Amino acid sequence: MTDLTTDAIVICRQMSKQHRKGEIEINALKRVDLQLAKGQMVAVTGPSGSGKSTLLNMIGLLDQPSAGTLELFNQRCESMTPSERQKMRRKYLGFIFQNFNLLPVLNAVENVELSLYGFPLSKSQIRKQALEMLEKVGLLNRAYHFPKELSGGQQQRVGIARALVHSPQLVMADEPTANLDTKTATEIVGLMRGLAHEQKTTFLISTHDPRLIKGMDRQITLTDGVLLS
Ligand SMILES: Nc1ncnc2c1ncn2[C@@H]1O[C@H](COP(=O)(O)OP(=O)(O)OP(=O)(O)O)[C@@H](O)[C@H]1O
Ligand SMILES: [Mg+2]
Repeated sequence: MTDLTTDAIVICRQMSKQHRKGEIEINALKRVDLQLAKGQMVAVTGPSGSGKSTLLNMIGLLDQPSAGTLELFNQRCESMTPSERQKMRRKYLGFIFQNFNLLPVLNAVENVELSLYGFPLSKSQIRKQALEMLEKVGLLNRAYHFPKELSGGQQQRVGIARALVHSPQLVMADEPTANLDTKTATEIVGLMRGLAHEQKTTFLISTHDPRLIKGMDRQITLTDGVLLS
């Protein structure tokens, strides 16, 4: 069992999020206390609307908590400027989405390269690293194909390559296998696990998929915005 008090790269304390839409106020997260250790693969489960995506968006610095605190890599996030948040996202975080979210006008290798902009690398180094990452996900022979020329599973492999090419410390994956068939989903899970192990990456994965949950180090569950460990 990992000692979370010394090894935590994510610490949420009493973190809440209210979404407001006109008169309606939704408490999407309610006083969540959570610590994630380095290298852990954690599944976030819970019914639709329970706050899984909201939690991932807070920890991924895509949105801000309404109350409570968030620490990533020993840095408090509340007081960060938008540009500091963006820098931390680019350097330390990776994202994998249910609908892959590839840019349709870029081919596979160019989509992967997006994660390397802003690092002190030449164009040819960026290309080399992106191609090496595509090779790891078994797609080197599709590097110059556009998203519409790839299957769902292949697009998600590109998505994984884009999320991991800059060796982030923490990857948020929001229902990464929801749009894939069983065989492809199993392959994608195996791929994520192998890369997590190799790079000691922490994964926070929201899912309804029992096959995905089975292989995780830890499962946490949200019910109506409340976290049950
Ligand atoms: N931008 C927003 N504005 C208003 N309400 C929102 C917003 N985003 C989410 N919500 C609400 O917050 C609650 C939690 O939503 P969230 O998307 O986090 O759930 P989820 O667990 O990811 O659900 P699913 O399994 O369907 O993806 C829901 O009641 C949702 O309607
Ligand atoms: Mg969701």
